[in-house]
Amino acid sequence: MNFEGEKMLPIVAGDELLEAQAHIWNHLFSFVNSMTLKCAVELGIPDAIHRHGPHPMPLSRLVSALQLHSNKTQFIYRLMRLLTHSGFFVAQKVPKNSGLEEEEEEEEEEEEGYVLTNSSRLLLKHNPCGVTSLLLSMLHPTFMEPWQLLSDWFKSEDRTPFDMAHAMSFWEFMGNKPKQGDIFNSGMASDARLVMSVLLDKHKGFFDGVSSLVDVGGNTGSVGKAIAEAFPQIECTVLDLPQVVGELKGEGNLKYVEGDMFKAIPPADVLVLKWILHVWNDEDCVKILKNCKEAITSNGKKGKVMVIDMVVGNKEEDTLIQGHLLFDMVVMVFLNGKQRDEKELSEAFKEAGFSGYKIFPILGSRSLIEIYP
Ligand SMILES: C[S@@+](CC[C@H](N)C(=O)[O-])C[C@H]1O[C@@H](n2cnc3c(N)ncnc32)[C@H](O)[C@@H]1O
Repeated sequence: MNFEGEKMLPIVAGDELLEAQAHIWNHLFSFVNSMTLKCAVELGIPDAIHRHGPHPMPLSRLVSALQLHSNKTQFIYRLMRLLTHSGFFVAQKVPKNSGLEEEEEEEEEEEEGYVLTNSSRLLLKHNPCGVTSLLLSMLHPTFMEPWQLLSDWFKSEDRTPFDMAHAMSFWEFMGNKPKQGDIFNSGMASDARLVMSVLLDKHKGFFDGVSSLVDVGGNTGSVGKAIAEAFPQIECTVLDLPQVVGELKGEGNLKYVEGDMFKAIPPADVLVLKWILHVWNDEDCVKILKNCKEAITSNGKKGKVMVIDMVVGNKEEDTLIQGHLLFDMVVMVFLNGKQRDEKELSEAFKEAGFSGYKIFPILGSRSLIEIYP
């Protein structure tokens, strides 16, 4: 097809044309995946199914448990159909009204019933490792707004689309809006509990011989607490901004220190940087790493920095690669950060004066990286 005044387009026809259209449609509407998941969490669907017990929860029971407007009950099936297709629930046929007394049951009739999957268990309100807070904070309108400004940002001087949308940096925003800050911090805390549960279950050896540790940017202390409990001989310090740790009190071998990682980091054998490097640009990363190197007290082999972050390109599964690339955009848009590949990380480690490093790809989409002074 040729439009007047336009150059001839390369011809795509037939199946290829339809495939190209479907490809774009899937991208165009992929926000529906996020928003329907958010809706399910807000309605309390995973919790309702969990409360129902181990047997599939019939759709009719689910609908009545959710306390919907009577006009809307008919639509839940469609929400559940998409989320089941996406792997958040498993649908099984159950006898209709299977939750009711036997004499009331209508014979032979069946309806859809739902059970949770491993993913939707992570959406339960009281799951200590749950991702609900992260999901609700990232999909809050406050955090969606910067995405609308992405192309404007590419042409502007602003540091990030987030700064453009809110006229302040991400960390200032979190300090100024305690409610948003609390949701974000609780998202960080549950992720920290999840990572620590894997690390302490399977890889305790990483802490052998360590007597002191600082979790740099350790937020409300989930990593610190887990290590302090698992290893009573390790003195654990959580360093974070005053707005985050100002009112927190440590006990036993755990303490909180208000501070700025760019100014000074308390001395310790091990400095933990979980989800820190990816939120800063290259120059800031080197500054943080240099401060960590200076803070390493250890004599000999024990001293190290333990980074927990993604290493772009070190996974083969398509979903993990996709996750790295999506997360890279997230940290760029909110924080001027970057998910780095091994080459970029090793350059930063070298520039900060470290002698070597080792990557352990043991944390799903993330890795544990040890850096040696
Ligand atoms: C992405 S969060 C990671 C939190 C935690 N390490 C985790 O993985 O759950 C980054 C943390 O760095 C803290 N932070 C930001 N700027 C900081 C600074 N200049 N000094 C100390 N902490 C800082 C934030 O308050 C936040 O808790």
